[in-house]
Amino acid sequence: MAIKTLSRRDFLKLMGLGAGTAALSACGVTLPAASDPQAGVAVSTPGITPSPTSPALIVDLTAARTTVPILSGAETPVWRYQASVREGAAESLQVLDGSYLGPIFRVKRGQRIQVKLKNELPDPTIIHWHGLHIPEEMDGHPRYAIAPGKTFDYDFTVQNRAGMYWFHPHPHQLTGQQAYYGLAGLFIVSDDEENALGLPSGEYDLPLVIQDRLFDAVNRMVYMVNGMMDQMTGFLGDTILVNGKPDTILDVKASAYRLRLLNGSNSRIYKLAWQDGTPLTVIATDGGLLEAPVTRDYVMLAPGERVELWMDFSTRNDAKLVSLAFDGGGSAGGMMGGGMMGGGSTLPKGVPLDILRVRVGEKGEPVSSLPQRLSSIARHRMEDAVNGKNPRSFVLAMQGMIHTINGRVFEMDTVANDEIVRLGDLEVWEFVNLEGGGGGGMGMMNMEMPHPMHMHGVQFQVVERRIDRNFRKQYEQVSAGFVDEGWKDTVLVMPGESVKVLVRFEDFAGTFLYHCHNLEHEDAGMMRNYRVTS
Ligand code: C2O
Ligand code: CU
Ligand code: CU
Repeated sequence: MAIKTLSRRDFLKLMGLGAGTAALSACGVTLPAASDPQAGVAVSTPGITPSPTSPALIVDLTAARTTVPILSGAETPVWRYQASVREGAAESLQVLDGSYLGPIFRVKRGQRIQVKLKNELPDPTIIHWHGLHIPEEMDGHPRYAIAPGKTFDYDFTVQNRAGMYWFHPHPHQLTGQQAYYGLAGLFIVSDDEENALGLPSGEYDLPLVIQDRLFDAVNRMVYMVNGMMDQMTGFLGDTILVNGKPDTILDVKASAYRLRLLNGSNSRIYKLAWQDGTPLTVIATDGGLLEAPVTRDYVMLAPGERVELWMDFSTRNDAKLVSLAFDGGGSAGGMMGGGMMGGGSTLPKGVPLDILRVRVGEKGEPVSSLPQRLSSIARHRMEDAVNGKNPRSFVLAMQGMIHTINGRVFEMDTVANDEIVRLGDLEVWEFVNLEGGGGGGMGMMNMEMPHPMHMHGVQFQVVERRIDRNFRKQYEQVSAGFVDEGWKDTVLVMPGESVKVLVRFEDFAGTFLYHCHNLEHEDAGMMRNYRVTS
């Protein structure tokens, strides 16, 4: 791809424009791929120059055991990332008081980030930076896991556009439990393009991590109580936590807010909506801002996915964010009855849930209207893909009791021939979910199972969804809630569905992962390496 030499700010300066995408689009100027996630700080090569205007951030980050108050009564033992700024602006880390969640990084595109990870857990661990476009050695592949007591030094430059990314553990077969016991944090990137929009910021910018957990009588988190069954369905809790707390009430001012949602649950999928039927105004997805806001009656949010909402609370007294009922699959079409598939949770997949309540208080900042132009997105084109006529296909199906990808499970050092791509190529990848009677179920179990498919190291564009007619009815309960307009790194693939994405493998050769972000599926082997060769 062409070397980009202008940052958006440089370009705006050249154009003699201070800011404002609206002005640009009105005069028909197309920016030089300003919103390409890799269009970055100046070059699109691995030797990217860190921005001189944002000094490096050096952070000491420890993964350790501790306890935090979650429910009333005894504190809950958790695993937590604790961090401090060694060098750089103290505001670069935002701590959620009393939560097991790690710090929120607030960084700028172009900034160099050094994180010194120390493992004070009883098990090996490693951090993966979900959604970031960084070299293989920084990406947290399980083969980089460090033993208890050891350290790992991360050093990378943020190339991603403004957006909410996140980080979590990725050690072999331990990702699910480590994330479940609390290890996760947000990584929020800002850039000049976004700053120029004047979106709600500061106290009006609220990151919200949605998770579910199961507790025992003395407030300890319980995990995988049903063994094999939980592994096949994914583990579900019966208590919804937002930023690590139950029964969340957000006290907001009468003003407009930016609500940044991450589904940090191990396997639960949410069908998010405002309870009173107010449509959701979506401004961003996994890889940052959309070109323009879109509205949805509800939004599907699968594990690993992010969505950002804009909401004006100035004209109301309260609001409630809920998850609506849907048929979430996980019932067996084969020998097993659906009733057994709820796992240990009293809240099976797809049941209606309360996520949080909003209480509107005093008057806040006057509401400035939401810009109708947020960004520009360079659309990948099918005809530019090296395999446009012959998509690389990944079949998701059960073999025995295990969910597989093209009949395979994870192997630490193995890459199959059909998992090798060339550096610089644009490719079509197609995820084909054959589970649940689409003809692909093998062995005696044949479950209908949604799979949120995630690729490391890249952001992609969803270009096509197709549904097997036998699944149409079930699908119609969720399909109006996909937001495929922007950059994504995780895409929900429903039972009977095929999803095509266009993805370019840029800048970094090496071995990366792609996997189902249902963490129990991932740990059980629904994960593979892909290799980018130069
Ligand atoms: Cu958030 Cu390998 O994933
Ligand atoms: Cu990832
Ligand atoms: Cu899965």
